[in-house]
Amino acid sequence: MKFFIDTANLDQIREAQDLGVLDGVTTNPSLMAKEGITGRNNILKHYVDICNIVDGDVSAEVIATDFDGIVKEGEQLADLHEQIVVKVPMIKEGIKAIKYFTDKGIRTNCTLVFSVGQALLAAKAGATYVSPFIGRLDDISTDGLNLIAEIRLIYDNYGFETEILAASVRHTMHVLECAKIGADVMTGPLSSIEGLLKHPLTDIGLEKFLADYKKGN
Ligand code: E4P
Repeated sequence: MKFFIDTANLDQIREAQDLGVLDGVTTNPSLMAKEGITGRNNILKHYVDICNIVDGDVSAEVIATDFDGIVKEGEQLADLHEQIVVKVPMIKEGIKAIKYFTDKGIRTNCTLVFSVGQALLAAKAGATYVSPFIGRLDDISTDGLNLIAEIRLIYDNYGFETEILAASVRHTMHVLECAKIGADVMTGPLSSIEGLLKHPLTDIGLEKFLADYKKGN
């Protein structure tokens, strides 16, 4: 299972990269705005900065919602760096653009996916990744993890190569349940990765080992 971090914060990206288990980064316009990154040129530069920190894929989202605009922006983003994956919203024009990018060998991440039907379309169009937003489904009392399981079943039925990127992950249990279901990737905040480290028995055990060592030395 690949671990992506879902942020545009360079310090957090560096921290996750330093841990040695990071496989990529996802961003979106809201995450960029949260870091105060505004203006096309600054946004493009920020994507390159992120690519220079991590080894893996970096999702960069288009703003346009018409086919020509998505293609123009997507090609510009893809030209920025070989690690860039063009993030395209799950809309009719987006699906057309994903098919266009697939035919041109440009990798895509189909975002804002909330149903199996949308995930099936993304795979048919050849998306590299599909991003079902599990946390936002949970927020409206719908089981986000169940969506991951249904997509897994359908993709396996037909051998679709589109990777299931569980997005809108909020905490460690999301990560673990996605791993059990067989999501290919999860993207979440740094806390959802670092939270996996924690167990009180580890802390108690280490404290005792160190205390016992001190007694004998
Ligand atoms: C995915 O690529 C999105 O950037 C992200 O996971 C959305 O998460 P949120 O629902 O916590 O905003």
